[in-house]
Amino acid sequence: MVFKAAKWPRRLRSQEWYEGSGRDTIYHRGWLKNQGYPHDMFDGRPIIGILNTWSDLTPCNGHLRELAEKVRTGILEAGGFPVEVPVFSASENTFRPTAMMYRNLAALATEEAIRGQPMDGCVLLVGCDKTTPSLMMAAASVDLPSIVVTGGPMLNGYFRGERVGSGTHLWKFSEAVKAGEMTQEEFLEAEQSMSRSSGTCNTMGTASTMASMAESLGMSLSGNAAIPAVDSRRRVMAQLSGRRIVDMVKDDLKPSDVMTKQAFENAIRTNAAIGGSTNAVIHLLAMAGRVGVDLTLDDWDRCGRDVPTIVNLMPSGKYLMEEFYYAGGLPVVLKRLGEAGQLHKDALTVSGGPIWDEVKDVTNHNEDVILPVEKALTQSGGIVVLRGNLAPKGAVLKPSAASEHLMQHRGRAVVFEDIDDYKAKINDEDLDIDETCIMVLKNCGPKGYPGMAEVGNMGLPPKVLRKGITDMIRISDARMSGTAYGTVILHTSPEAAAGGPLAVVQNGDMIEVDVATRKVHLDISQADLDARLAAWTPKHELGESGYLWLHQNHVEGADTGADLGFLKGCRGSAVGKDSH
Ligand code: FES
Repeated sequence: MVFKAAKWPRRLRSQEWYEGSGRDTIYHRGWLKNQGYPHDMFDGRPIIGILNTWSDLTPCNGHLRELAEKVRTGILEAGGFPVEVPVFSASENTFRPTAMMYRNLAALATEEAIRGQPMDGCVLLVGCDKTTPSLMMAAASVDLPSIVVTGGPMLNGYFRGERVGSGTHLWKFSEAVKAGEMTQEEFLEAEQSMSRSSGTCNTMGTASTMASMAESLGMSLSGNAAIPAVDSRRRVMAQLSGRRIVDMVKDDLKPSDVMTKQAFENAIRTNAAIGGSTNAVIHLLAMAGRVGVDLTLDDWDRCGRDVPTIVNLMPSGKYLMEEFYYAGGLPVVLKRLGEAGQLHKDALTVSGGPIWDEVKDVTNHNEDVILPVEKALTQSGGIVVLRGNLAPKGAVLKPSAASEHLMQHRGRAVVFEDIDDYKAKINDEDLDIDETCIMVLKNCGPKGYPGMAEVGNMGLPPKVLRKGITDMIRISDARMSGTAYGTVILHTSPEAAAGGPLAVVQNGDMIEVDVATRKVHLDISQADLDARLAAWTPKHELGESGYLWLHQNHVEGADTGADLGFLKGCRGSAVGKDSH
């Protein structure tokens, strides 16, 4: 795509606030001067909002204030006017009932923070899982020039000489304790090794995935995704991004220029190649909805089908983000996709040029971390979209994290009505379950949980774990942490709380899964299914007020991105005049 830059100089939206000598201008400008800005800072230079998701309670983003200073330096160097603005920070490891319930609220609050204030462009300073999509959704809806800077992953963790991956080893160690292979004391000792430095999860979890999605969509500078949080080159990246956003404003290079259908297809293929999180499905669908790109679950299945997973990182493989960076990071993966004919090479990035120009000359420095295609973790790494009478609107599975022997399976359903029911029963030695069964979890979708918790990778029952079994098929309307693994069918749509067929599965029903034909089937007659659905009544209660009410009454299905329906689309940056 050839981008035609706008003419410069021209009048910017920030001058609505700061230009001239009228009473309102003096009100806006004069008050800001209490921070010590010289008068010539209001001469029509681009005002750049550094939208910062720093929070003490979002530890993954705990270092973003220091990074913001480097962004600020870059903006000043390029002749811009930086203003740092704190925005809603939805931390994955803190928010209850789940950070996902607040992704849309964060997007809504950030969208209004951009539109209602004098910004000409934005630097999205993000990191932890939901902070990246929420700010990108907001930027897409306002459509002012924007660039993503992520905080970067933590350094490798080590426990007794072995790599410890964020999240991935939390699940592993917890299963090992249940299976009697690890003591509680050892588990507590391991906790100290899990988070060695500032930064986001060091696995190819959702944070690393979304950083990679931002880069493959063209919304961050090339190479941004993998630089460790504490590496000096992360700070260089922040400064360069600060410089770049000023020129993006001058050129009027907007998210709608970058986030095209081609860019989304690049991101979907990238997700397959890196063995990325299933959460990317929901977030990219939601972003596409904001920017007006027609993206569907079928695009995920179609684009990812023939893409091998070549990034050997946990949870699918064995290394961590630090090694990914040293091997060359995402540009190497994008180059591979390009060489395989699986990249739209001319897709535009925030650099102002085509994505291929950014990656075509990079080198892979470690072929055990970024694998040759013939050694790929799986030859078909794309997110699989399953359909059938159990998931008429689709369900997803991540093949690189699943077990080959379960790709075609028929098993007896063991049903948990909600997560509390699961917790109450799973450790019961009398639970009628073995490794051939299929675990079914209901009422954990966007509306039902509420907020679509990351509980789809239910831990196995202890009596199965003690046999040395590490995987069973699990089906739910929940999500799964990007750091998790297993043959886990997620995002079943429509969700149980909205009356989807998942709601009427009963203990003892037989379920068939066939990944090759993309089928998930509840083996009962259509008449029985209809009768059960007709008799179904909602089990969850809707919130009566506040944001819970707003969320439950307006959240849409996972199959379209679980956005609030009234927030879809681009509303632009125009705002009415004020008068004081
Ligand atoms: Fe924040 Fe993983 S929990 S990045």
